[in-house]
Amino acid sequence: MMSVKPVRKAVLPAAGLGTRFLPATKASPKEMLPLVDKPLIQCVVEEAVACGITDIIIVTGRGKRAIEDHFDMSFELESALRDKGKGDLLKEVQHISDMANFCYVRQPEALGLGHAVACARNMVGDEPFAVLLADDVIHGPTSALAQMMSVYNEFGTSVIGLQQVPPADVVNYGVVATNPVREGVHQISDMVEKPAPKDAPSNLSVIGRYILDPAVFEALEQISTGAGGELQLTDALKDMLRGRVVHGVELDGTRYDVGSKLGFLMATVALGMDSPELGKPFRDFLKGLDC
Ligand code: UTP
Repeated sequence: MMSVKPVRKAVLPAAGLGTRFLPATKASPKEMLPLVDKPLIQCVVEEAVACGITDIIIVTGRGKRAIEDHFDMSFELESALRDKGKGDLLKEVQHISDMANFCYVRQPEALGLGHAVACARNMVGDEPFAVLLADDVIHGPTSALAQMMSVYNEFGTSVIGLQQVPPADVVNYGVVATNPVREGVHQISDMVEKPAPKDAPSNLSVIGRYILDPAVFEALEQISTGAGGELQLTDALKDMLRGRVVHGVELDGTRYDVGSKLGFLMATVALGMDSPELGKPFRDFLKGLDC
């Protein structure tokens, strides 16, 4: 296997307005919504850390302070848990702030995912990095980023997470044209954000996991407003294809768009049923429902 630069840093964009989840997101960050008992953003931090990432860069904005508090040490809570002899909970709480080096950068205005990633440029510097969107949950035996890391370690290129979607749904996604490399691995030849079904090059859609070459920052400088009036990461990646190879990996696992209310409910049920602690009583409860 060729030697590639290690991926040490992950950028977690969390500055969006979460309008699809109003009113819950009026004063609380969407990224702090819990799946069973864990905030969405903690799930992606754990996914990144399990892949060897040590530095977590969170892009925040107005109203997102709860995210910083969550990953900070909580002196009062820790001493209360210690006093009450709740050692297991104390360990769990300490683990949250010890997992990684956390740093934060503000996106002053929610101008789009591409702009959010560009805000992290100085903190990332000149090295490959991962991007994980907390509102894309991929539930399966191997995490999405771990599946992509093995392709990154093989080729040393940017790697994008992909999944097939029904043709009518492509209008909600970034969509790629590809040349097959092998089963489930593609070389990307073109990308388009939110195409009409008749203009889509395929039904392979971009899912919120990326491993990116730092050259993407140059490309992000050049893009102008795209689909939905936002600065789109897809447009920068499309420009990058002119000079660099980008691979795509079809991700195994069930994907939930937990930024939507229905996707969030579905993920909550799926993860609740799989919970070691709550799975059994939760399944029993579901069986008793009249539906
Ligand atoms: P989404 O488009 O799903 O999030 O962005 P949103 O804009 O918050 O949601 P809606 O459409 O209004 O409901 C995916 C991720 O990118 C972040 C979001 O916080 C989310 O985690 N994001 C999006 C930013 O950080 N900045 C932006 O300008 C846009």
